[in-house]
Parts: sequence; structure tokens; C-alpha cells
Amino acid sequence: MTYQGKYCSLGTVPARWQAGVFSLLIHNGTGFRPSLGSSGSEVASYFDSLLFNDFFFSLREDAVVAFAAMAHTEASTDPAMSERLGNVKKWKVLTCAITEKRLRRMGAMSFALRNFIRGAGKLPIVTFTWSDNGPFIGLLEGNGFVELYREPDYFGAGIDRVCYVRHFTAA
Ligand SMILES: CC(C)(COP(=O)(O)OP(=O)(O)OC[C@H]1O[C@@H](n2cnc3c(N)ncnc32)[C@H](O)[C@@H]1OP(=O)(O)O)[C@@H](O)C(=O)NCCC(=O)NCCS
Repeated sequence: MTYQGKYCSLGTVPARWQAGVFSLLIHNGTGFRPSLGSSGSEVASYFDSLLFNDFFFSLREDAVVAFAAMAHTEASTDPAMSERLGNVKKWKVLTCAITEKRLRRMGAMSFALRNFIRGAGKLPIVTFTWSDNGPFIGLLEGNGFVELYREPDYFGAGIDRVCYVRHFTAA
């Protein structure tokens, strides 16, 4: 399946793509840990928190079918993470990645993530997930991410919060 791609901040894209992101969040938020909630206002505040992230959109016929969102972090805002990463000064955080349900397992997120990795340049990319999120973990491990650390039982008995990192490697 082929997708068109677009790399930009959520605040600068057409309203119909912003609506596409909102729709993806509201239809998937209940599976998240912690849950994004299913009420419009909970999703709206999460959506607002993503406004200044960089996004890569996977589009089909000008509709958003998947997106990966990324924030930029500096050592001064998270010294513990900087140390874990080998005292790097800057890194990217993959904050959110969602594919429309009916198009899952058809390469939409691989397409977004590969472009995203290119957009991160030489900076490491960090992301967090829950240990029973098989689809996302499969996607991360297939794209060069490795586990950095985990917080056992963070989301309840047997469900850890796991931090993955992708270090830059020359192609
Ligand atoms: C995780 C998610 C974004 C994957 O998106 P996707 O568009 O279906 O992923 P792709 O089709 O590009 O799959 C890429 C690779 O990821 C892995 N993967 C995807 N879905 C998988 C599944 N259900 N089980 C195991 N591995 C899976 C595979 O390695 C796959 O490659 P392959 O199909 O060649 O084996 C999607 O399942 C999703 O939106 N989940 C809900 C939201 C979420 O949990 N986001 C992550 C936390 S923010």
C-alpha cells in the first residue's frame, strides 16, 4: 500500500488534518495506558499538548491514516534521562503514534516512523510504552529501537512501563 507523507507541526497543518488527528485519538484512546479517556475534553487537552510537536502524517487521498508525533528535549529539562543516554545534551521523544484501526498492519506506521527517524538526524529517539503493547513493541524493535529501562508493574500487576531508545547509526 502506498502513502503520501507530510512532516510538520500539528499547529501549522490544514484543519482537516488536525481533525484527522483528533479522530484517531478519540477512537483509540481507550486502549492507551494510562487511558486518554473517551470524553472529548480529555482528548482535547491531550491534543493541545501535542500542538507544538513535530508530526509525520501518513496520508491516503489527503486523509490522515496514521501519525507519529515527536518532541525535542534538552538535558536541562531531564538530567536523569540525559545520563541514561550517555550524557547526551539533546534527544527526541516519540510522544505518540497511531494508525487508523481499519488500516493496521499495512505499513502506515512503518512509513511514518522511517521518515521520522530520518528527521531526527543524529539525535537519539526515546519513547515509552506499556509492556503488553505487542504491536508497538514489534514496530519499535523492527526499526532499531532497544529497551533502555523499565519500571515494573507501573500500570498494574505484570504491566511495566518500558522506555525504548533508538541510537543513531550510519546507514
Ligand atoms: C502500534 C501501531 C501504531 C502500529 O501501526 P501499523 O500501521 O499497524 O504498523 P505497520 O503496519 O507499519 O507495522 C510495522 C511493523 O510493526 C509490527 N507490528 C505491527 N502490528 C503488529 C501486531 N499486531 N503484532 C505484532 N507486531 C506488529 C510488525 O513488526 C510490523 O511489520 P510486519 O507487518 O512487516 O511484520 C498501531 O497498532 C496502533 O495505532 N496501535 C494503537 C496506538 C498505540 O498503541 N500507539 C503506541 C503508543 S503511543
